[in-house]
Amino acid sequence: MKLSSVVPWGRSLAEYRAMFALVDEDLEANILGCGDGPASFNAELTAAGGRVMSVDPIYCYSAEEIRQRIQQVYPVILAQLARTADQYIWTHFHNPGHVGSSRMSAMNQFLSDYPRGLDAGRYVEAGLPELPFFDREFDLALCSHLLFLYSEQLDEQQHIAALLEMCRVATEVRVFPLVGLDGKISPHLPRVIRALAEAGHQPAVERVDYRFQKGATDMLRVRSAAPINEDDTGE
Ligand SMILES: C[S@@+](CC[C@H](N)C(=O)[O-])C[C@H]1O[C@@H](n2cnc3c(N)ncnc32)[C@H](O)[C@@H]1O
Repeated sequence: MKLSSVVPWGRSLAEYRAMFALVDEDLEANILGCGDGPASFNAELTAAGGRVMSVDPIYCYSAEEIRQRIQQVYPVILAQLARTADQYIWTHFHNPGHVGSSRMSAMNQFLSDYPRGLDAGRYVEAGLPELPFFDREFDLALCSHLLFLYSEQLDEQQHIAALLEMCRVATEVRVFPLVGLDGKISPHLPRVIRALAEAGHQPAVERVDYRFQKGATDMLRVRSAAPINEDDTGE
């Protein structure tokens, strides 16, 4: 992945808690963040004693390279937020500048943790739909602002493959939001849910408290089916 094609934008642990309805018990689980990018979720949760690993194709770049890319895109994103302000709910964040300072603080936390986290194997360069992990290595896999949001860039089959892979490596999967950039429910959602159910998983759409993009009120929670153990077939 070319860094020039990436728009790094990272959220905080508080935002992850609200987007995924994470309770204290969830945060004690062994967690995988898919597409965490420059979010401070991993840095903050690790500092609080949590067990978390993040995967993202941008982790092939150095902290300095990611910092420079953030500085390039930051004014562009803020100008875009100001232009499209009517597509957001301004209760938690008061204005685009408030979003910018909050996201920049999260991204700075990520950048200072990143070299240490790379050494510790907490940041892993990988991309959906292929995760370099064993079946059920994690209790919970999360995906924020990638699947469904980029429904125009990622087709239905890519969504299904990504979610089946997350279900393979984790007992439970949560994805937020379920709307595309246009604020409408992703056209892929119904068939993705059907494909997950056909594979034996238990998908459910659940309302969460997080509010920012209009229309983004729900997460997808999937309780994954136990993997088939070939020794247990009775043959
Ligand atoms: C909009 S950012 C969201 C970052 C973070 N999850 C958050 O909510 O703050 C989307 C992230 O998805 C990553 N990404 C793009 N394609 C991916 C893939 N195939 N697998 C995993 N991550 C991917 C990008 O590099 C980027 O960091």
